[in-house]
Amino acid sequence: MKSVFITRKIPDIGISMLTNRGYAVDVSPLDRPLTKQEVIVALKAKPYDAVLTLLTDTIDAEVFAAAPSVKIFANYAIGFNNFNVEEGKKRGVYLTNTPGGGADRVAEHAWALILALSCRIVEGDTFLRAGKYKGWDPMIFHGTKIAGKTMGLIGAGRIGTEVARIASRGFGMRVVYHDITRNEKIESIHGASFWPMIEDVMKQADVVSIHVPLNESTHHLINESHLKLMKPSALLINTARGPIVDEAALVNALKNKVIAGAGLDVFENEPALTPGLVGLSNVVITPHIASATEQARLDMAILSAQNIITTLESGIPANMVY
Ligand code: GLV
Repeated sequence: MKSVFITRKIPDIGISMLTNRGYAVDVSPLDRPLTKQEVIVALKAKPYDAVLTLLTDTIDAEVFAAAPSVKIFANYAIGFNNFNVEEGKKRGVYLTNTPGGGADRVAEHAWALILALSCRIVEGDTFLRAGKYKGWDPMIFHGTKIAGKTMGLIGAGRIGTEVARIASRGFGMRVVYHDITRNEKIESIHGASFWPMIEDVMKQADVVSIHVPLNESTHHLINESHLKLMKPSALLINTARGPIVDEAALVNALKNKVIAGAGLDVFENEPALTPGLVGLSNVVITPHIASATEQARLDMAILSAQNIITTLESGIPANMVY
């Protein structure tokens, strides 16, 4: 009988897909992220065939070594920076993710952050709830208009392309993008123009939205010097992974009005926030919920379970990350 360890409770459909195939499934009884040590202890307890992991689980050489029977680590996430991909590859372990799960919703969330900032939604809401509203006032909460401006994308994969679609179709924006490879679809369908140097995107954009995976080459991809290149009126949006942005540099840039605002769903040292961030009124922050819809969570459960079944039964993995 094949056995699977799931590091934290996921929607039942993913679990029943596995049990319906006759697999023995153990789900961590703790409703919190496991520490790496706890994952290792769990994997040493039984010769599992597969592990379904969350983005909060660090899967590195030590974990691979503790689980020699495991053929696949299936991440319940679009991102996979919690995997040491090179190490997994070296050991011949399959590593998968759930690329379709919630990608459209992440793009919507990026847009929610953009509009929350440009329309000053959170500041206005806080003001009203504090009983400060004394009637219509032509001088309060002037925001900025987004229509007709320039959207700068750092990363033009599935999510970046959806952000571009909304930008061009919904807001008549010009779209400029930087990526390691060109995306002909975003150019032909959404009229986006490719810039090989990230600096050119930072300079031109009124909104910079980040949609690249976190890896060695994207760690602190957006640093102090990039922030200084942005227009003082520009917004920075990050729904990808926190460490892509140097968060301390961002806090300084926001404090000193180097840029106008930031919308963040992810943080460099999640769940901790860089000191000074929460005190800033030109920031809108959400707790890593960009893909959080019931449907997306179900899709992710189905995809990750399917990745395990396909790999264990046919040896042909779907949604491999390398
Ligand atoms: C969420 O951040 C994901 O990668 O799915």
